[in-house]
Amino acid sequence: MGKPLAYKILNDHLVSGEMIPGSEISIRIDYTLTQDSTGTMAYLQFEAMGIDRVKTKRSVAYIDHNTLQSGFENADDHNYIMSVAKKHGIYASRPGNGICHQVNLERFGVPGATLLGSDSHTPTGGGIGMIAIGAGGLDVAVAMGGGAYYLNCPKFVNVELKGQLRPGVSAKDVILEVLRVMSVKGGVGKIIEYTGEGVKTLSVPERATITNMGAELGATTSIFPSDEVTKEFLAAQGREADFTPLAADADAEYDEHIVIDLSALTPMAAMPHSPDNVKTIEEIGKIKVDQVCIGSCTNASYRDLMRVAAILKGKTVNPHTSLTISPGSKQVMNMLAKNGALADMIDAGARILECACGPCIGMGQSPATDAVSVRTFNRNFFGRSGTKSASVYLVSPETAAVTAINGYLSDALELPDLSILDVEMPEKFDVNDNMIIPPAECAADVEVIRGPNIKPFPKHEPLADEIEAEVMLKMEDNITTDHIMPSNAKLLPYRSNIPYLADHCLTPVDETFPARAKEAGKSILVAGQNYGQGSSREHAALAPLYLGVKAVIAKSFARIHMANLINNGILPLTFADEADYDQISQGDVLKLTCVRENVEGKDRFRVKDETKGIDFEVVLDASPRLRDMLLAGGLLNYTKNASQS
Ligand code: F3S
Repeated sequence: MGKPLAYKILNDHLVSGEMIPGSEISIRIDYTLTQDSTGTMAYLQFEAMGIDRVKTKRSVAYIDHNTLQSGFENADDHNYIMSVAKKHGIYASRPGNGICHQVNLERFGVPGATLLGSDSHTPTGGGIGMIAIGAGGLDVAVAMGGGAYYLNCPKFVNVELKGQLRPGVSAKDVILEVLRVMSVKGGVGKIIEYTGEGVKTLSVPERATITNMGAELGATTSIFPSDEVTKEFLAAQGREADFTPLAADADAEYDEHIVIDLSALTPMAAMPHSPDNVKTIEEIGKIKVDQVCIGSCTNASYRDLMRVAAILKGKTVNPHTSLTISPGSKQVMNMLAKNGALADMIDAGARILECACGPCIGMGQSPATDAVSVRTFNRNFFGRSGTKSASVYLVSPETAAVTAINGYLSDALELPDLSILDVEMPEKFDVNDNMIIPPAECAADVEVIRGPNIKPFPKHEPLADEIEAEVMLKMEDNITTDHIMPSNAKLLPYRSNIPYLADHCLTPVDETFPARAKEAGKSILVAGQNYGQGSSREHAALAPLYLGVKAVIAKSFARIHMANLINNGILPLTFADEADYDQISQGDVLKLTCVRENVEGKDRFRVKDETKGIDFEVVLDASPRLRDMLLAGGLLNYTKNASQS
């Protein structure tokens, strides 16, 4: 039976497990990327592993998210990332060089390789034939240290593209159509693989627009074959040597099959407040638009912006509409500057922003109260623009540009001369990597710059054989990660400062907890059902670790938080008999003996309540790999040990 391309690449990189959908596999990671918002934590974690140089083929640190510097915190983070990258063998892309996914596609993407990135839109790399997956900073740190990446073997969905897009209809409309058909949950546990005669009509950046928004389907990743179009793109980037032809087997079998006729598509928009709330522009009608933002890792490539410039040339942006354009990379911005397209945009009244995420991550350009904002981005969740009352529509660059001129939602099909959209891909891109700083030859020559906002990562100790500690807090059911580690605008700049964040740990439950835990040095938490529900934030385990929490005994755990506790060497135990929860009081001293032996081989063991003179049974539900991780004191120590053996 023939295999999908994604299956073949995963199988080539398989470290453990079997390629059976739903079962756990681990894969070798060739390349990694980070962006600054998640990168500081990933590099603090990498440093904590004590490994001198990254073990990947190449790792790149991008600074593209928090590029506004209205306080010292972001600038401190930038200095830290640039210097830690230089020391440990990582390339660093300076602020202004562009958005991580676009620059990575242009300068580093390699067909057939695996890429792990600490950003959910890492699947953009699938446009060039990579298996590119978004993950947490800790996963990326582990991959940089040479550790495998664990995931559940996905199912494979084939989207067959037929025909060819009409002028005025673009790659964005293709992925909006896929979102309309599959919904934002339709890709969960799946890889979306594009095939069919329509594939060759799409350039690599257009394919990347489609794989980029595969993230909105909830998919593990999306992928296109690597073909003559890929070869031409790589050659135009001066990287023809990176080309390998890759495709699914002719008789490949898939779990699902969807057919899209490109010729039949029309311009579309995702309406507020979900990327799958898709209608055609015609169906939505001529609504008044206050703001148009063009850019982001979805739609800021050369051809995207050349078409925008062609539409704007000789026109004026509507007086009641603001138009911003953020080119996706310095390469593209420079080419637009040299060929005059940038002047056409500026002439028309566009506000040119730097090559960065900008408005997409809420760095400026929040719409006015009740405004309608039309954006070429990938997400329009409620409040993401920074203005809760705003309505955000997601569209193609062509639709956005025509809308900016008209002042109301409209598409490019109404242009009198559609031939202006006929933009050739360049034979040679303008290649100048002077804003990508290579790593130092010798790590010892580089001193890592740590401003006051960069604090060392909490220390992970191997699991002790005896734990005797006070129940520092007894909690009810449904404690969320927001209770454990509140995340608000005031705390956000301190993502690389665990000691500061720890002073806010569990304060929504008990304001005195951080001070009491610090004084005791070690402690145990007791909780009801579903402890740690909510987000996947790692800080909800890191802050307790910093405060000396050794174990959490709960009636039940939220799955991701339990994984985060294990990743950080904190024992997550459940009551064998939930009634025992009622017997324990805050302030009781609990004692666990023969801990290492129990964790190594037993599912159930007993805990003594020294204060009450009773004991009770707890359960540890963990695979052998997770038990080894707990014994080592968490995932970082586990990876460090593995890389040294
Ligand atoms: Fe940046 Fe927005 Fe993409 S924040 S990485 S442009 S989704």
